[in-house]
Parts: sequence; C-alpha cells; structure tokens
Amino acid sequence: MIVVKENASKLDMGVVKGGRYLLVPFFTLYMILFLYLPLLPHSVHCQCTKTPIIFNFGDSNSDTGGYADGVGLNFAPPNGRTYFHQPARRLSDGRLMIDFLCESLNTDYLTPYLNSLEPNFTNGVNFAIIGSATLPRYVPFSLFVQVSQFLRFRYRSPALMLNGYKDLVGDEDFENALYTIDIGQNDLAASFDNLTYSQVIERIPSFITEIKNAIWNIYEKGGKKFWVHNTGPLGCLPQKLALLARNATELDEHGCLQPLNNAAKTFNAQLRVLCEQLRRELINVTIVYVDIYSIKYDLIANASNYGFESPLMACCGNGGPPYNYNANINCGRTGYTVCHEGSKFISWDGVHYTEAANAIFASKILSTHYSTPQLSFNFFCNNM
Ligand SMILES: *[C@@H]1O[C@H](CO)[C@@H](O)[C@H](O)[C@H]1NC(C)=O
Ligand SMILES: *[C@@H]1O[C@H](CO)[C@@H](O)[C@H](O)[C@H]1NC(C)=O
Ligand SMILES: *[C@@H]1O[C@H](CO)[C@@H](O)[C@H](O)[C@H]1NC(C)=O
Ligand SMILES: *[C@@H]1O[C@H](CO)[C@@H](O)[C@H](O)[C@H]1NC(C)=O
Ligand SMILES: *[C@@H]1O[C@H](CO)[C@@H](O)[C@H](O)[C@H]1NC(C)=O
Repeated sequence: MIVVKENASKLDMGVVKGGRYLLVPFFTLYMILFLYLPLLPHSVHCQCTKTPIIFNFGDSNSDTGGYADGVGLNFAPPNGRTYFHQPARRLSDGRLMIDFLCESLNTDYLTPYLNSLEPNFTNGVNFAIIGSATLPRYVPFSLFVQVSQFLRFRYRSPALMLNGYKDLVGDEDFENALYTIDIGQNDLAASFDNLTYSQVIERIPSFITEIKNAIWNIYEKGGKKFWVHNTGPLGCLPQKLALLARNATELDEHGCLQPLNNAAKTFNAQLRVLCEQLRRELINVTIVYVDIYSIKYDLIANASNYGFESPLMACCGNGGPPYNYNANINCGRTGYTVCHEGSKFISWDGVHYTEAANAIFASKILSTHYSTPQLSFNFFCNNM
C-alpha cells in the first residue's frame, strides 16, 4: 500500500527496532490525502500581520513528510512529478490540500514533527502521518499519539526558546494557533477489512470519541481555534473499487461503493454533531467543520465540468481501466504505469488525489461555502 522504493518495506522492517506496532498501521491501512491551487484567485491570499501558526493532525491526506522522515525513506518517482519535480515525501504528484491552505496564508509548508534535519517550526508543526487512524489509541501514529507529541512540543517549545533555540513557537502563540484535524478515513477503511457494514457503523462512535478527546486535550492547553475536516467518499477511491466492488447493485449512480460512502456519511454526521456539542461545551472557541465529503464527491460526480476524465481511475497504478489499481503494483513500484496528464485525473494512485484535484479542493475550502460556521481559513490569521 505504501508507495516506497523497491524493497523498502524489507528495509523498514530492519531499521525500526521492535517496530511491529509502528509498522502495522503503515502496511495494513489505507492512506488518504488531499490538496492544490495555482487556481486560487490572488485575492484569497491574506496578509497576516504575524506569522500564522498551524498545528495539523491527520493521515496521508495531510502528511507533508512525517512518514518519510520517520522511516528514513522517500517515495519513488513519479510521486512529486508535477510540482516538486521529484518525490516530495507526499503521496501525490504535487501539493496537498494543506500545502495550498498554507499558501493561502502566505506561509511556508508545514514542517513534519519528525523532521530532525532541517526543522523550522516557526509557523507550526505537522503531526499528520500516512496511515494514521484514531484507533487503536496507543500505537504510532494514532491521533492520540499525535496529540501527545503536540503536548510535548507545547511544553518544551517556549522553554527552549528562552534558552535561545530558534524556529519554535512561543507560549502566547499556542492560543492564537489554528488546530487542524483531518482523520478517520483509515479507521473506516480498516474496519471494512474485517467487519460487516453494521459492525463498521457500530464502531464509528468510538472514532468520534477519539476526536473529541483530541480537541479537549488541545483546548485544555489553550487551543481556541479548530478546523475540522470531515472524511471523504471512501467508496469512490479506485483502490476500494478495484478490491471490493463485486456487485453492481452496490454502486451508486456515479459508480462509487454505496456501503463505504454511507459509512463515511454516518461518520460525518456524528462528527458534525460533535462539533456542535463542543461549541457549547468549550468556552471562547471557534470550531469550523468543513464538509470535505461534498467537495470531493462533487468533483467526482461532475468531473467533466471540472475538466477531469475517468474520475474513478488512478493516474498512476497498474491494470488499466476501469480503475488502474493493482494492490501488488502500486504507483512507483516496478510495473506501474502513469498517465500523461495528471491534470485530467482526480485520483493519483488509487487512494490519494492529484495536485489538480487538491487545488480545487483547497479553493472550495477557501470559498467558505462548505464551512460551518462560514468562516474562511484566512480568518485565522493571527491578526484577528
Ligand atoms: C522559518 O520559517 C519562517 C516562517 O515560515 C521563515 O520566516 C524563516 O525564514 C524560516 N527560517 C529559516 C532558518 O529558514
Ligand atoms: C483483520 O483481519 C486480518 C486477517 O484476518 C488480521 O490480520 C487483522 O489483524 C484484522 N484487523 C483487525 C482490525 O481486526
Ligand atoms: C447483488 O446484490 C443483490 C442485492 O444485495 C443480490 O440480490 C444479488 O444476488 C447480488 N448479485 C450477485 C451476483 O452477487
Ligand atoms: C472569553 O473571551 C472574552 C473576550 O475575549 C474574555 O473577556 C473572557 O475572559 C474569556 N473567557 C475565558 C473563560 O477565557
Ligand atoms: C454537480 O453539479 C451540479 C451543478 O453545479 C450541482 O447541482 C450538483 O449538486 C453537483 N453534484 C454533486 C454530487 O455534488
């Protein structure tokens, strides 16, 4: 599943001592991700009077290099080909949604917490890691572990700055910071591996509880601004379609797997209720719930209006139409094929999105039309 160089998984196994728990989520779960936008109108760029500070938690939808840093590997080409022109520790041909959101604030891309070589945490930290889920709780890099890392950073950073360390975050900045969360896709995906539909649905409240605990833990340390993404249409991923679609009656009008999408919608309905509840319970906080599902599903349903072809087929993979996905020959592995024009594809590798799709997702997010309350990402510049 992970798109690494040939033989990389063997290498990982050797490198990470006692890494059973570390590797399990990476190699059994499904990664997701999102984000792009040279398309953003110039006007959405904000002029923050201070450096905006973002702490991001999530999975491959927003991992800007944490996994690659953690295991000491980059991904293979053609990952990164469109924008970075080399693999850029992201699962995409280019930028992710979070990269575009950072661009909209005129701030640098977020540095992964696990980046030990050239860290610059001046504008925040990215705790997101490919393969992460909310549960199980005590394994790297569950949401709980990511928040634990944040709490350590929260505690250490101001003290280290007093000692002269640079490129960290000061005490007062944690209250102004924006806390972004995008997780849940791997919880649903893993659940569908082993459980029936109704068993998956039964597990959803336990995922939501983990997100609730994460927000509470950050709030108790001064966090006030939260930006929560719901989960995308899992049943439209070429990977899921290639592996699970057996019966046309399970497909919706756009060719997506209905049970998986229904589970995603159930998750989202509960996440929305959680956000409403937390707005009542937490004092002086802003919690924006963003309907990523609708943004992504619209792009797939109306693909041709956006200039995309084959919305359910991976640009990079193996096997050809209809999905171009082969679990044994992922993008970057020997035998893969890659489309000529990534800008005509929504799915990059069967699980993650192309830069072209990510750019549109980000511009939709910035439109505020999918946000509750209808606040802009730019609202969170420190000068508010
Ligand atoms: C660290 O990042 C900040 C803001 O993103 C930037 O202004 C600064 O120049 C960077 N520092 C270094 C050493 O690159
Ligand atoms: C799902 O089943 C597989 C194979 O039967 C097993 O290895 C895995 O641990 C199970 N996962 C969960 C979450 O129970
Ligand atoms: C497809 O699903 C429908 C409804 O669940 C069922 O009646 C039908 O037998 C299935 N067909 C196959 C080939 O499994
Ligand atoms: C909430 O915000 C208001 C206005 O900024 C402030 O006066 C009040 O002390 C805050 N309450 C708490 C509990 O932080
Ligand atoms: C497709 O686009 C039309 C026209 O903009 C819109 O009304 C419809 O809701 C879109 N479909 C989806 C599934 O978002």
